[in-house]
Amino acid sequence: MSAHDDLKALIRTIPDFPKPGIQFRDITTLLLDPRGFAQTIERMAAATRGKVDLVAGIEARGFLFAAALAVPLNAGVLLIRKDGKLPGATIAEDYALEYGQDRIAIHEDALVPGARVLLVDDLIATGGTARAAVRLIRKAGGIVSQAQFLVDLPDLGGADALRREEIAVDALVS
Ligand code: PRP
Ligand code: ADE
Repeated sequence: MSAHDDLKALIRTIPDFPKPGIQFRDITTLLLDPRGFAQTIERMAAATRGKVDLVAGIEARGFLFAAALAVPLNAGVLLIRKDGKLPGATIAEDYALEYGQDRIAIHEDALVPGARVLLVDDLIATGGTARAAVRLIRKAGGIVSQAQFLVDLPDLGGADALRREEIAVDALVS
């Protein structure tokens, strides 16, 4: 079994969730496996290039990976939240994802200008969510040159769309 197949085997597919026709890639089963989760974070850390000031995680599943990865990278954690959850003044972006639409936000003063930000999420599908996150980070003065995902769904084109924005994209499982 290759290094990547072992993580793939820990992710299950639930058909027709949250809508008919969606093949939902469920990572809760990987999170339940201590070795699988530890391997995921180790491999993300190993794939990280250069010094990172902040690891940005997208609510909700992205928080788990961003927080764990920030520790070995000696970086802070930037929470990219669904709009309406952050208490301070925010900037927000609307976006469409594979199965709907949403709006994400960050505190407007969360970033020191020039901060080097690694974007992390559990999964990239259409890339709508990740591209909205990149717009927010850039608006706030951050530099995002790399993004990491546990899962890429390449047929939906999100990783390629991010690469067209000069972002290096890594995923552990396709
Ligand atoms: C999921 C996933 C990504 C996004 C990817 O989040 O965690 O953030 O969809 O889809 P896209 O590439 O088409 O934009 P979801 O909004 O379902 O939130 P959750 O983590 O709270 O379940
Ligand atoms: N987010 C967007 N598309 C998804 C999918 N197919 N499975 C899990 N999360 C997703």
